[in-house]
Amino acid sequence: MQVFREKQPLIQAIQKIKSAGKSVGLVPTMGALHDGHLSLVKNALRRSDQVIVSIFVNPTQFDNPKDLEKYPRNLERDLELLKAETPDIWVFSPNANELYGEHISSEKFDFEGLESVMEGEFRHGHFDGVGTVVKHLFETITPEKAFFGEKDYQQLQIIRKLTDKTGLPVEIIGCPILREESGLARSSRNERLSSQNRIEAAFIYETLTGASQLFGTESASYITNWVENRFKDNQHLKLEYFQIADVETLKKINIKEKGKQYRAFIAAYADDIRLIDNIALDN
Ligand code: PAJ
Repeated sequence: MQVFREKQPLIQAIQKIKSAGKSVGLVPTMGALHDGHLSLVKNALRRSDQVIVSIFVNPTQFDNPKDLEKYPRNLERDLELLKAETPDIWVFSPNANELYGEHISSEKFDFEGLESVMEGEFRHGHFDGVGTVVKHLFETITPEKAFFGEKDYQQLQIIRKLTDKTGLPVEIIGCPILREESGLARSSRNERLSSQNRIEAAFIYETLTGASQLFGTESASYITNWVENRFKDNQHLKLEYFQIADVETLKKINIKEKGKQYRAFIAAYADDIRLIDNIALDN
């Protein structure tokens, strides 16, 4: 396994393998790796010659400094997990100045409204930060393919828009959500859940599956009310938003249209830990 802390040696190593005709697959992460991340790595290993995993807790995408401070970091363990997948993997783990240069700041993007709903509404500037760091990574690593989880579905659609708008020649591959046995979506933030919280957080996925069953017969506003009432009765979790949206525009819908695809999206707090999840809906 090769670990690069600096851009230049990585760029040179990439030039070498590219001139040998090999393709590069990138899996961007913020570390604290779990099976969800590793499923992206497995997917990347199947579909590219050289897989590069970036591990970088990106300061510009955190609107809350406490959240950034508390974000779990464990590089040694991450490297062990990746090495166990394959010793051939490369890791890029720069510090903020190495990646950004002297000025650590976000570019402003127009993602045609995708950035202002749901996560964008509750986390100001978040997607400018994500867009900035992913653009830097794409420009530095020049991958043919990059792998993102449907766990962060809004992020996935925004990255697709980013490549459309910038013309960066990277194929974006969306990968399914990996869940714990209880249904709770795997997340680095789950590490901060108490064992009690963890049991209670399964309620989020239960609610999503309930909503998806209702979607066959009930309207979006009926289902939204049903979800809000379920959370009102739950003493352990606080709902931030629930929304049924078109997968392309991410706009909230009232009435289903034939031929369109929809997902239900949710964000909720267990104590001060913010959890997000989503589910595909059959139309
Ligand atoms: P991070 O939260 O570390 O997630 C890295 C990738 O793993 C994302 O594409 C995310 O959607 C995916 N992922 C996380 N949990 C998953 C799960 N349970 N199942 C499937 N995939 C999962 O997302 C980020 O980092 C950052 O915003 C980043 C894109 C790296 C930019 O800083």
